[in-house]
Amino acid sequence: MNQPTDYRYLLSSRNDASKKKQSFYIKTYGCQMNERDSEKMAGLLLQMGFVAAESQDDADIVIYNTCCVRESAEDKVLGHLSILRRQKTERKFILAVGGCMTQQKDMVSLLETKHKYVDIIFGTANRHRLPEFLWRVIESGERVADISEGDENEFPEITDIPVTTREFAHKAGVNIMYGCNNFCSYCIVPYVRGREKSRPVLDVIEEIKALAKDGVKEIMLLGQNVNSYGGEWWEADVHIPATGECHKYKPEKNATFPELLKLVNEVQGIERIRFMTSHPKDFSDELIAALRDLPKVCKHVHLPLQSGSTRVLADMNRNYTKDDYISLALQLQEAIPEIAISTDIIVGYPGETEEDFADTLDVVKRIQFSGAFTFIYSKRSGTPAADRTDLIPRKTANERFDRLTSELYPIMTRKNEAKINHTFPTMVEETTGYGIYKGRINDHTLVHFRSKQELSPGDTVPVQINTAKTFYVSGTH
Ligand code: 5AD
Ligand code: SF4
Repeated sequence: MNQPTDYRYLLSSRNDASKKKQSFYIKTYGCQMNERDSEKMAGLLLQMGFVAAESQDDADIVIYNTCCVRESAEDKVLGHLSILRRQKTERKFILAVGGCMTQQKDMVSLLETKHKYVDIIFGTANRHRLPEFLWRVIESGERVADISEGDENEFPEITDIPVTTREFAHKAGVNIMYGCNNFCSYCIVPYVRGREKSRPVLDVIEEIKALAKDGVKEIMLLGQNVNSYGGEWWEADVHIPATGECHKYKPEKNATFPELLKLVNEVQGIERIRFMTSHPKDFSDELIAALRDLPKVCKHVHLPLQSGSTRVLADMNRNYTKDDYISLALQLQEAIPEIAISTDIIVGYPGETEEDFADTLDVVKRIQFSGAFTFIYSKRSGTPAADRTDLIPRKTANERFDRLTSELYPIMTRKNEAKINHTFPTMVEETTGYGIYKGRINDHTLVHFRSKQELSPGDTVPVQINTAKTFYVSGTH
């Protein structure tokens, strides 16, 4: 088994001995899982005595944590890499590329042959081996390409990094599961992130307690499909390099997702609990009750629709119909009248007819989403949909995309307008200076507001809403 301890120790000693500490810069593409992975990598590097650089232009180590869910994400990474190719001829630095993109078939060989200036290629399951890869490059100048999943007993979490390495001091994402078993026909995630495994309950709760102690007030529980939490547990040895201990992580306490929410709700110091993403097929009555009854659980659900057409949904392997989705959303709205439902929608899926698209618009009108991420279908090789020949012309897909947003945006604006003249407890997210703040209402609405008081991220204050736009509301404290 790999011993990450040695490499961490070796790199720390090296940093201690040198006059100028080496710096790193991590650029993150994609979802909140990647954001959290990057925070953990940053924690690891800080722990070894590296310092964070202001920008990639003056960093000694540049790490790209990539995404491949759509072609555009991948193109962005490749475009940015070519800028680094130029920089590599002007100054010396180590370039590491990891994350979902490198897990794709043929990507390692493409990077190895066409992007020879990349020093380290790593994957999603072996990011904890970054110290070893860095050491190999620093000491022997070799190039490293390793996307292996490694030892069965290695845990992907890095458990002993400082909890303070977060983008926001007052909120943190916490992985509760990895991978996905759903194999939606268009989606690359199950192929690059592997099978679904849940993190043991006690491990999750311990991390949240440590975060709360460190000043975190809001937790976002992360997983590709949090509703199926507890399906299969991650049973693994966790190596704690700081103490040399090796813990057997067997879940002593099983829990379903609603039960986990109850346990998180009891953690002192945590004020708000959010979660994403929910798959409509696994949304139980117990979860609706937990959302309704647990005071810290925010009244917001991100519930990807993908398409409103039952025919397309079957094609996508989503395992619910248009009617199933609508009745679930209505059930949520009935149980929790203040609930906000946001969604993901894809237009231009192969074979999508005008009638199918009309069904999507119909669901949008009936559910009145508070927000939506909208996408044009992007072919991902290796997925079942990639073999389809009945592609939708780009012009039609673009038109549908525009029609979809013209339906969605006025709904979102109206929902925000309904908040005018009402006052909401608002948690401060950012201070932008001159008494102007950004915060969030419990239902995740973004609020820009003024206050005469000096406020800090994590403070919750009442804000009266005066004006509303599509993506935010404004008010005063
Ligand atoms: N094309 C377009 N959108 C996609 N998504 C996932 N795969 C694709 C694809 N191939 C969208 C889905 C998912 C979100 C994270 O990304 O809507 O919910
Ligand atoms: Fe992709 Fe479907 Fe899994 Fe979401 S549930 S990550 S869309 S395969």
